[in-house]
Amino acid sequence: FNTNAQFFIAAYLVGGIPFGLLLAKKFAGVDVKASGSGSIGATNVLRVVKERDPSLAKKLGAATLALDAIKGVLVLLVAYFAGVSEATLWGIAVLSVIGHCFSPYLGFEGGKGVATGMGVMMFMLPYETIIALIVWALGAKFIRISSLSSLTALTALIVASFIIHPEMAHAPVLIIGFILFYKHIPNIIRLLKGEEKRVV
Ligand code: G3P
Repeated sequence: FNTNAQFFIAAYLVGGIPFGLLLAKKFAGVDVKASGSGSIGATNVLRVVKERDPSLAKKLGAATLALDAIKGVLVLLVAYFAGVSEATLWGIAVLSVIGHCFSPYLGFEGGKGVATGMGVMMFMLPYETIIALIVWALGAKFIRISSLSSLTALTALIVASFIIHPEMAHAPVLIIGFILFYKHIPNIIRLLKGEEKRVV
């Protein structure tokens, strides 16, 4: 076992922790996998808990967003200070997102990777991520559809990475982008049919 393999395994296992599911179950007594979109992310926590307690929903949604983002960054930070290569950092970033989207604790089901992807990208490509966050905020304000805002921001991040860092190997960014789009297929179908809900 070399050190990199341990970081990769840690990234997958930590990335897989379903904070949204755990918080919603513990503090609101609801199963997000069985309600709303069935996703374990901040949007669905907000959506499902809101029916019972709007103020608690905002807190749990924000906590889910923060924890899902931080979990990816944690392993990256440890690996960074251990002095691993850039390629290893990218491997950790990708595996954190895979852990969240295909969680080992949920029979390889999971979330849609937006918060965790945002967290790891903030570490790896901060300028691109700031652009994506601005696009996301504009989308959330004007389009007011969570999935469409996320997909628009993701597209902006990928395009920005080609403009700001044309020299880098883009495969990890494209893999993360592919995973996020793949996990949003049900949302994309609802969007095309005009059935995706506004706000949450
Ligand atoms: O952040 C996830 C979002 O893009 C979609 O979530 O629950 O509406 O499918 P949801």
